[in-house]
Amino acid sequence: MSDTGSTKSPRRAPKSQNITRVAHRVTTDEREQRNGHRGGILWFTGLSASGKSTLATHLEEILHKADMQVFVLDGDNVRHGLCADLGFSPADRTENIRRIGELAQIMAGAGIVVITAFISPYRADRDSIRTRADGVFHEIHIAAPIDVCERRDPKGLYGKAHAGELAEFTGVSAPYEAPVNPELVINTDALDVDACVGMLADYAKKAFAL
Ligand code: ADX
Repeated sequence: MSDTGSTKSPRRAPKSQNITRVAHRVTTDEREQRNGHRGGILWFTGLSASGKSTLATHLEEILHKADMQVFVLDGDNVRHGLCADLGFSPADRTENIRRIGELAQIMAGAGIVVITAFISPYRADRDSIRTRADGVFHEIHIAAPIDVCERRDPKGLYGKAHAGELAEFTGVSAPYEAPVNPELVINTDALDVDACVGMLADYAKKAFAL
């Protein structure tokens, strides 16, 4: 696929005027001290069927059992509510990722480890969150070759895309721009789920240590 990319998604100037920020009386640091770890964002990116949701939910369970405050935001879930008005055009994907980026930053500021599982195909959209969430954004490429994802096809979507029943499908008729310098790459075709989750848990415990 070509690296067509969507337009950059800089932080929007608010539409409203006469709005003034309210300062919290509890700081992020105070919340993190109580939690016993830092808040932050583990931003998973990868093709459909690369393993993002599976690894995100397994990692969430492990970190929860290790007494960490952790929550998964997943594309298929968020698109039922917060992003129910969005489809899969380049502009809608950019808006989807912008909203999730904002939400993830709010949650990280509340001291939570946020795991996001979105294809997030455009480099510019991910980079824009990295810039805004400076220091707490960890980009993790959940990597599997496209032919492996096509063979897995758990939702039958690659089949539909090839049959011409599903337009703008990532990897078939819409682009995926792989990360250039991710903090971590997990090759899900080479390692089983336990091995992948073990690497992710080790990374997370170090990354969010106080
Ligand atoms: S993103 O591109 O905006 O980041 P997101 O992760 O929210 O996508 O949603 C991807 C999920 O939506 C896929 O796992 C798949 O189940 C479903 N989906 C439905 N249509 C498409 C499509 N055209 N392209 C990619 N995923 C699709």
